[in-house]
Amino acid sequence: MTYTIIDHEFDVVVVGAGGAGLRASLGMSAAGLKTACITKVFPTRSHTVAAQGGISAALNNTGDGDDWRHHFYDTVKGSDWLGDQDAIEYMCKNAIDAVVELEHMGVPFSRDENGNIYQRQFGGHTIDHGKSMARRACAAADRTGHAILHTLYQQCLSHNTEFFIEYFTLDLLMDEQGICRGVVAWCLDDGTIHRFRAHMVVLATGGHGRTFFTCTGAHTCTGDGNAMALRAGLPLADMEFIQFHPTGIYGAGCLISEAVRGEGGYLTNSLGERFMPKYAPNAKDLASRDVVSRAMAIEVKEGRGCGPNKDIAMLHMEHLDPKIIAERLPGMADTARVFAGVDAYKDPIPVQPTVHYNMGGIPTNYHGEVTCDSRETIVEGLMAIGEAACVSVHGANRLGTNSLLDLVVFGRAAAIRAKEVVKPGVSHVKLDDSVTDVILTRFDKTRYASGTLMTGHIRTNMQQIMQSHCGVFRSRETLEAGREKLVECAKSLDNIQVNDHSLIWNTDLVEALELQNLMVQAMVTIESARYRTESRGGHAREDFPDRDDEAWLAHTLSWCDDNLTVKLDKRPVHMYTLTDEVEAIQLQKRVY
Ligand code: FUM
Repeated sequence: MTYTIIDHEFDVVVVGAGGAGLRASLGMSAAGLKTACITKVFPTRSHTVAAQGGISAALNNTGDGDDWRHHFYDTVKGSDWLGDQDAIEYMCKNAIDAVVELEHMGVPFSRDENGNIYQRQFGGHTIDHGKSMARRACAAADRTGHAILHTLYQQCLSHNTEFFIEYFTLDLLMDEQGICRGVVAWCLDDGTIHRFRAHMVVLATGGHGRTFFTCTGAHTCTGDGNAMALRAGLPLADMEFIQFHPTGIYGAGCLISEAVRGEGGYLTNSLGERFMPKYAPNAKDLASRDVVSRAMAIEVKEGRGCGPNKDIAMLHMEHLDPKIIAERLPGMADTARVFAGVDAYKDPIPVQPTVHYNMGGIPTNYHGEVTCDSRETIVEGLMAIGEAACVSVHGANRLGTNSLLDLVVFGRAAAIRAKEVVKPGVSHVKLDDSVTDVILTRFDKTRYASGTLMTGHIRTNMQQIMQSHCGVFRSRETLEAGREKLVECAKSLDNIQVNDHSLIWNTDLVEALELQNLMVQAMVTIESARYRTESRGGHAREDFPDRDDEAWLAHTLSWCDDNLTVKLDKRPVHMYTLTDEVEAIQLQKRVY
């Protein structure tokens, strides 16, 4: 193994160029910190580009009486009381400024008749603790993520963030005291290896939806930062909480935005019945996603599924005014036509709950600083933001449109914190070369892996295990059987075959490295799901159907060693707020 290493020195290195990574990079560059942003895909191809329905903020543009405290209440309830209320307060209060700031940066939001930002209804968004539905989702038609991502990228360029595009980050450089000192990355374009020294590394590497077979996430959603954290001996939090979006297109898995139901769309079963009022009498089709996904699964289980296999529901938007579809949901009509062969102006769309979001991730405080144990000890030199992080504002279930918000609010928070703790231009601690060697040895071993199993074969096996054993409903039986299969599947990684040994645009090697990343996350997900013997939010245990606050009002922490042995622990939920502007919401039964 001989690799020539190209060294770089930055005040801050941000890994990932989705909404969170770009918002952090922008803030850090603007604060005078020498900032690098490393990304495995071109920034505007990051998965944020696919976010559709909106970004939440209680702007009250419709005069419905919305207020950030209603947003706070809805988010706590949506999280099934697992969200940390200090972080939720921070997010909801800062949402208004964050969205106005985006508008001023140039995000082309849709407009209402008064020229204000257009706001639509979304699941679980209410006024006065559920008394009426709120219009809180600020939208750029049904392409809100696209609009935000492009604007943030332009802003980063104008603030001189230095981009390292199509670089695959291999691992964190951790010193003996557990302080993060930088990262090592592989440039896919010319095959060179780069060592970035930094006083602060920010992981903004997105979710790991691709541990599952059907998911709305891009193929690049492999949670690389989460896996780097695990390899560095750090824990992940709340990994059992996987969000199934109710309306993924049957078969293809592409997202049909909740905005369709926000604009008046609804779901039916094989009897042509609108079934949601049975499960959520008030919010109906706009109940939170875990509730709607479970309702759909029950309809299918009880024999009222649609389609030849009776395993889907139908999403209707054909009754909406065609002008609304053309103006507010143009992308949805296109997606339905291309991926389901349906003319959504005339016919319903076949949909199925599909993996959409990871509530779990790298544990952090609301400044974005990574924590590493139940006492929330801060890991120096390391931050995590966006879907890679578990801050935790989404708890056991995320409300739609709180994800784009999380990206920009905590991207900005990380930049504010970095400005406080990093002094620009200070010299870097030089780590022993052995730290880099360990990283490159793993890389080299994978590059020359000469087993008999193709990456795609092992990956499909892992994804199918997760899909059938860790789905909308789980039980000890399904999880234990799944874990056994997953252990075998993980062992088969030792028999992986990488045919292309080159270093230039070697997608064979990229996919093998991504699969290693996915596998550790699949392991901690299934183990955390086995560990949590209650039902809460997106984690529905058939054998423990109730929420158990006495035993489980706690975040799960999970570590995974090189032998894929998982260790688990808990940490208390923050049932307190930061200021007296809002009171913490005490535990209640969660009904919609
Ligand atoms: O349905 C959607 O448009 C998704 C939004 C979200 O996940 O926040």
